[in-house]
Amino acid sequence: MRIVDLRSDTVTTPTLKMRQAMKDAEVGDDGFGEDPTTNRFERMAAERLGKEDALFVPSGTMGNLIAIMVHAKPGDGLICDTKAHINTMVAGNTSALTGTTICPLDADETGHLNLEELESLINLDDIRFPRTSLIVLENTNNLAGGTVVTPVETAEIYKIARKYGLRLHLDGARIFNSAIFQGVDVAELTRDCDSVMFCLSKGLASPVGSIIAGTKEFIKEARRRRKMLGGSMRQTGILAACGMVSLEEMTDRLAEDHDNARYLANGLQEIEGFDIKLKTVQTNIVCFRYELPNLSCREFVENVGKKGVYVVYLEKNHGRMVTHKDLNRSDVDYALEVFKKTASEC
Ligand SMILES: Cc1ncc(COP(=O)(O)O)c(C=O)c1O
Repeated sequence: MRIVDLRSDTVTTPTLKMRQAMKDAEVGDDGFGEDPTTNRFERMAAERLGKEDALFVPSGTMGNLIAIMVHAKPGDGLICDTKAHINTMVAGNTSALTGTTICPLDADETGHLNLEELESLINLDDIRFPRTSLIVLENTNNLAGGTVVTPVETAEIYKIARKYGLRLHLDGARIFNSAIFQGVDVAELTRDCDSVMFCLSKGLASPVGSIIAGTKEFIKEARRRRKMLGGSMRQTGILAACGMVSLEEMTDRLAEDHDNARYLANGLQEIEGFDIKLKTVQTNIVCFRYELPNLSCREFVENVGKKGVYVVYLEKNHGRMVTHKDLNRSDVDYALEVFKKTASEC
């Protein structure tokens, strides 16, 4: 059976060059700071993001946790979009492991935070509420449909953060998708953030790992938190070697995934039952609503899955599809055919 896996860009497999790089990587014990490939990769990543220093971590989830732990104390409040990854898909770890309280703010339908509402949520003096110490931005905004945050918007949020003495962390799991879509250097998107996390194991196709970056002081503290969480590893050079290939060769090609996502979204619009907000289809994510009187979204996702086209069901009548380097235009055409057939059969 032909398989078209649109569940996530995390399903991407490492390239041949990555496999070769793993084989050739010079390694040492990163717990002692002695893995030369990891050290080189961290310097390369910091430079690319325009930050002083960087740290390789096992996952984006751990990267965000570490950043929150460095910037905020237990009892503090952090503000983010209600649908942000750190508030929705991390098994509750933000409150459970950092002791912070999330003060969520509903973004608009394209994933943007209203600045006045953001400012009004900040609490410094009222002792009944958590003291706000951190804002977390998500760029691209996953559950808004992979929408991008601009450098100007980031700078405005940073200005508010600074006005109240808060820190700004960027969950940039897919920050290179955002940079490619906007045609800007990634450092423009990270410049006004105190720290940033990005994932290697999504559209950039590495098998494992994420980077967090910030000042030298931030990374020194982050290293301790990584140890605390059990994320300090040993011969990580075999993974860092893939990360280098990701940064050198896999960022520019994301434009192809964006084209495929737009093509997919346009095709879905023609199929009965689908409701797509085209303005949210900016990068490689297509969030959709699906509903026919005799076929629910959940049933639709199950049916197409049985036919080899994998899609994520979110909740109610919502689902998500993601394009990536292991899918080409013909795979998208095939998926559209299966969707059309499934919708017409019911
Ligand atoms: C926006 C966002 N942040 C963080 C993460 C976490 O990354 P990981 O799966 O590497 O823990 C994800 C994963 O899907 C994500 O979409």
